[in-house]
Amino acid sequence: MDLTRDEQAILDGEEGESRQKAMELVTALGKIYGAEDLIDITSAHLSGASYKTIGDGGLKYLEDMAAGGAKVSVPSTLNPVGMDRDRWREMHITPEFAEKQLRIIDLYGQMGVRKTCSCTPYTGANVPTLGDHVAWAESSALSFVNSFIGARTNREGGPGALAAAILGKTANYGLHLDERRRPTVVIDADIDGSVFSYSLLGQAVGMAIGSGIPYFRGISPEVEEAKTLSAAMAAAGSVALWHAEGATPEAGNFDVSDLEVVHIGEKELEAAYDRLNTVNDVQLIAIGCPHLTEKEMHQIAAFLKGKRKVSKDIEIWFCTSEEVRSKCPEDVAVMEQFGPVLADTCMVVAPIEGTFQRTGTNSAKAGNYLPTLCSQKAMVRDVAALLEVVM
Ligand code: F3S
Repeated sequence: MDLTRDEQAILDGEEGESRQKAMELVTALGKIYGAEDLIDITSAHLSGASYKTIGDGGLKYLEDMAAGGAKVSVPSTLNPVGMDRDRWREMHITPEFAEKQLRIIDLYGQMGVRKTCSCTPYTGANVPTLGDHVAWAESSALSFVNSFIGARTNREGGPGALAAAILGKTANYGLHLDERRRPTVVIDADIDGSVFSYSLLGQAVGMAIGSGIPYFRGISPEVEEAKTLSAAMAAAGSVALWHAEGATPEAGNFDVSDLEVVHIGEKELEAAYDRLNTVNDVQLIAIGCPHLTEKEMHQIAAFLKGKRKVSKDIEIWFCTSEEVRSKCPEDVAVMEQFGPVLADTCMVVAPIEGTFQRTGTNSAKAGNYLPTLCSQKAMVRDVAALLEVVM
């Protein structure tokens, strides 16, 4: 790889051990993927924030990085953690887990990372713009910023994103390059346009194509639909970039006339629904994957207003960011009649398997991960159908 004199000096250890380690990792990734050089980034978003997912090994890695003086050099945000920082007892979290989780957040803070822990930082805390090169982990968020905003990031892992954040640079390969952003398949989508239909569409596309860069016809996503679609395709397949005709900023750059066309309609959505649903009665209903936006908080509160939770056996969690929760106190008051509005955590990265075995959600992404990462049987429905279960 072509390194500048300054980059080579970092690799040689002239700026300390933590920057050297970060450069070793970024250049190693660059060599594996054939990058010719490094590129400056404007922001990073880091995964590996929940104690459940990184464990004591990850905690020790962060301890070592922070002790070595590691500091991020671009605005950087964190993914959801394993609990609400204040209301963890309501999530059946043990004090031992809570102590380690708070330590992890603190260590990231020592490295200069903003302690906003959300998978939707693009709605406020960390908003790239068209053409920005960034280093984002969190499969749903990076797909959203690649696709709906037109920023450029590869599917970074936690350590790679942290290394890039420390350097303010990443290896220049893959989705940073114009030619690697070309669509690979046209998806002719026939859906009803509800947010839930975007979740099933993403599941169906992930099941149909696995990876690749879909180019959609027949959809008009706004933020909520785009985040849901991004999350579902990232979980059901490994899609990190998609385009939608007339709706995403780069769609008009490509001639797709010679691409294969895949139709996704009622039959495919039903197959996606059947794949996700493995149970019909649940102990927990968790809504907000990816994290609820302000608009979704208003919609849920409007739906719940004047209604009453009858079932005492089923818990309900609403998951959002601290930023959104603090902006919606009236919605929160209505929603809390049904269950806690939890900030900066979610049903997948929290250790729910110690308490629950059957969980309902409106998200295809959570529907994929609840069985594999949380030992749950899953029920996946739209928000209204889920909430009606407890009324
Ligand atoms: Fe976010 Fe957790 Fe879903 S991190 S995308 S709410 S699995």
